[in-house]
Amino acid sequence: MTTETPGTSTPLENLLAEERRFPPAPEFAEQANARHELYAWAASDRLGFWAEQARALVSWDTPFTQVLDWSDAPVAKWFHDGTLNACYNAVDRHVEAGHGDRVAFHFEGEPGDERTLTYADVLREVSRAANALEALGVGKGDRVAIYLPMIPEAVIAMLACARIGAVHSVVFGGFSAEALRSRIEDASAVLVITADGGHRRGNPSALKPAVDASLEGGTTVRNVLVVRRTGQEVAWTQGRDLWWHEALEAASDQHTPVPVEAEHPLFILYTSGTTGKPKGIFHTTGGYLVQTAYTHLNVFDLKPETDVYWCTADVGWVTGHSYIVYGPMTNGATQVMYEGTPDTPHKGRWWELAAKHGVTILYTAPTAIRTFMKWGADIPAQHDLSALRLLGSVGEPINPEAWVWYRRTIGGDRTPVVDTWWQTETGAIMISPLPGVTAAKPGSAMTPLPGIAADVVDEMGEPVPNGSGGYLVLTEPWPAMLRGIWGDHERFVETYWSRFDRQYFAGDGAKKDDDGDIWLLGRVDDVMNVSGHRLSTTEIESALVSHPMVAEAAVVGASDETTGQAVVAFVILRQEYLSQVDEPGEGADVAATLRAHVTSQIGPIAKPRTILVVQELPKTRSGKIMRRLLRDVAEHRPVGDVTTLADSSVMALISAGLDKPA
Ligand code: WTA
Repeated sequence: MTTETPGTSTPLENLLAEERRFPPAPEFAEQANARHELYAWAASDRLGFWAEQARALVSWDTPFTQVLDWSDAPVAKWFHDGTLNACYNAVDRHVEAGHGDRVAFHFEGEPGDERTLTYADVLREVSRAANALEALGVGKGDRVAIYLPMIPEAVIAMLACARIGAVHSVVFGGFSAEALRSRIEDASAVLVITADGGHRRGNPSALKPAVDASLEGGTTVRNVLVVRRTGQEVAWTQGRDLWWHEALEAASDQHTPVPVEAEHPLFILYTSGTTGKPKGIFHTTGGYLVQTAYTHLNVFDLKPETDVYWCTADVGWVTGHSYIVYGPMTNGATQVMYEGTPDTPHKGRWWELAAKHGVTILYTAPTAIRTFMKWGADIPAQHDLSALRLLGSVGEPINPEAWVWYRRTIGGDRTPVVDTWWQTETGAIMISPLPGVTAAKPGSAMTPLPGIAADVVDEMGEPVPNGSGGYLVLTEPWPAMLRGIWGDHERFVETYWSRFDRQYFAGDGAKKDDDGDIWLLGRVDDVMNVSGHRLSTTEIESALVSHPMVAEAAVVGASDETTGQAVVAFVILRQEYLSQVDEPGEGADVAATLRAHVTSQIGPIAKPRTILVVQELPKTRSGKIMRRLLRDVAEHRPVGDVTTLADSSVMALISAGLDKPA
């Protein structure tokens, strides 16, 4: 692991040459929420530290007496004899404290429509929604699938579930009917909340047809609540489908939140793993709320009275759950929510919105930053971004050039940049600089937050010395940690807790520099990261081979300047279809057909950028596909060591067909 981390091809030398340092500005440090002393406090009394955060940041119906019960490891119980309600914490208590007039969301639809929702507005809406859900027989512990565009109803639907103790499972609107079906089935959802459609790239994009298709042929779903967003025609199943606005109008705007145990499940969120089947990561209420609120307050330095915070993620991903809904709202933040894409109707849309609402804190992904770099600094320069005082990054390693560009061009060379490492599984930020405290290095997520214990270990699970690389592990339980994979305890233990003894294996390669600061280097397993979205190579391979044309498929993530990685698929066609292509590597129709097929099986985000038709795949003698070699091909590198190949001529064959990608 001297020049290359397992599974990635990030040359460490590039990162280690990074010498720039960005110490906090004294004016920022002076007013910062985070203090350096937090580290010492948490190190000397970790559980006491978390107990204090839990009491200070969250309101409990029944106070907890025990902080952590780890006797059933690796399933943690945090604050488990306490009871609380997540929606009460995110909404009601701000209204009760006299902040009902504070804006919760400045919503901007893609076509230009606007809505402002105060905390009092959200309370009314969420109370109506909770009553409507209960009227449909949904109660504590029931699962509700949410398949919505980025509109306020997505947040209201999630919070309405939390309010009645129902467990939400948000499915990103870009997933296909098939993907939605498998998630509904896995969680045995009783209700789906969706919309006729959403606005994307200047057009209405339908959602309801995918829901209808996903429910065909028997399901646990009793009702479908449909938000009217685009006004497009929808098919209607009488008795099953109801309009959201009608159900809410009929419901009272008074509703008492249901207190739940701290360990009551709050949500399930499916994420790609190393097998074809997505994992239902589930989180519980108390610890999750505590850590999302604590990290949001300290990492983003939120001042709820004055800040305007904008996290550009979709609520379909964990970033939207933790840093649009639960963390910020528990802290009473004012937010911007935008429905559409950054280039609709023009490439300055984000900056126009940031200027209009005086956004002070922006949280986005490196892939977006690199896209803006490509579009040019003159676009943001046309807008007044002087209100910005902090920038955050999440989802994939941010290369130092993008980090520095972000700070200079968007942050006016004055804002701290926080590179936050975490996962769907961790529920909240784990490794990040603390603004006002940390002298940041561009490209490094720096150190575990106070209260968090992480390390970089070698194959044997031993911590590596500074200056070396290895695997990122988390060495102590943390409040927002996943409590399992829905319905599959064994897979939970196997995936995260069996690689190293009593340490959580994150699946990421990392390096400690000479100061012990952590640099993330990408996944070490068969998970790709495309535009900050996690995709499984195996899942896309299964989708490809489910097409009658395909005999075998291998998928790799190849580096891509903008999206981080891009999906590249190598496919072997069945004999009977081979007649459709004259030579290996040809056949635009084949590629188009297979791309459409992957879109229908998983969703457009999983669509391969490149599909190469080949005659053979490189395999070891035991039959394992050597993705490393395929990655060399996909990244136009000389092919590496082929001595373990069963048939070493295979690579020559593949390379020969390469100039003609399908
Ligand atoms: C990657 C997103 C480097 C990492 C919150 C992780 C990062 C996966 C960073 C989780 C970062 C996320 N630097 N890599 N700051 N943030 N990752 O579950 O590989 O969608 O394992 O959660 O994204 O992706 P997920």
